[in-house]
Amino acid sequence: DASDIEKGTYPHYMLKEMDEQPAVVRKIIQAYSNAEDELTIDDNILEAIKEADRLYIIAAGTSYHAGLIGKQYFEKIAGIPVEVHISSEFGYNMPLLSEKPLFIFISQSGETADSRQVLVRVKEELGFPALTITNVPGSTLSREADYTLLLHAGPEIAVASTKAYVAQVAVLSIAAYVAGKAKGKEIDFDLKTELAIAANGIQTMVDSKEELEQIAEDYLKIARNAFFIGRNLDFYVSSEGALKLKEISYIQAEGFAGGELKHGTIALIEEGTPVFALATQEQVSLNIRGNVKEVVARGANACIISMEGLEEEGDRFVIPKVHQLLTPLVSVVPLQLISYYAALHRRCDVDKPRNLAKSVTVE
Ligand code: AGP
Repeated sequence: DASDIEKGTYPHYMLKEMDEQPAVVRKIIQAYSNAEDELTIDDNILEAIKEADRLYIIAAGTSYHAGLIGKQYFEKIAGIPVEVHISSEFGYNMPLLSEKPLFIFISQSGETADSRQVLVRVKEELGFPALTITNVPGSTLSREADYTLLLHAGPEIAVASTKAYVAQVAVLSIAAYVAGKAKGKEIDFDLKTELAIAANGIQTMVDSKEELEQIAEDYLKIARNAFFIGRNLDFYVSSEGALKLKEISYIQAEGFAGGELKHGTIALIEEGTPVFALATQEQVSLNIRGNVKEVVARGANACIISMEGLEEEGDRFVIPKVHQLLTPLVSVVPLQLISYYAALHRRCDVDKPRNLAKSVTVE
């Protein structure tokens, strides 16, 4: 629908697409619900997942970051081992494969050449089954794979991926949950309810623009570089937050596992270096706070983004409470918006950053 891709009153597609995120999650819940109102995926895809002894997730960029979260979902919820690979590396440096692998390609556009190159090998040389998770029905990766799960995010125009990432994480959670149920795993939560709660949490985030704009101004106005740290799922979201900031504001940024910083990178911390720390993971919440103390002692300007229930005095921003596994859906949104406002302050072309294309069709 052409009206879908109009900016309307929005100054940028990226802002519009971030605002669409709560609706995208709700749409996904609906699209993946059956007549009994339970979450479901296509029977053939479910069989393919159940039959596999190992899943190989192949993706690039933001989609790779979503894949890292997907690994945790399949392993923790469905008990299926998963490897996640950057598509451009996998092509030349193939790991030893299991006996019954299922390849899962995650790609917003479905056109990324690095990922397609792997898919062609998987199908033509190896003859293994492949599932593509994409936003674009009929895209190359969708046509060439055996199965497709759609993201239902609507067209994503901004080069920096936002709503597709949230959609990827949501669809991966559903696939893992449905597979876990089908395998008779004990699952102690209702994903449908939890996704609906997450959608509300995302809404609260996109309604917090003023606060997030202020954070961008306070921490990034004159920054030359920035660090994002987190542990467990927060680490993957930190990597995604850093990628967003790099892409659209050109501030050099890196995401790190909180505990890894002291093994070298902490040497870069100077007076005023911005460090964004995510603290949404209960088991490691104290550890990440310890890492924050380490960087603050070296002059860092730390911005702690925690979650309701785990917050402490001095945290700069608190996300609403959501299920422990679904925190990435919500915590990524403040990072997207902080990046957006940092880029605006620098008068960068938010929707079309220099040197980047929406889909990378060369290897
Ligand atoms: C995301 O903000 C990037 N522009 C980029 O990393 C992107 O995610 C990557 O090129 C993969 O694209 P795809 O999901 O369309 O395959």
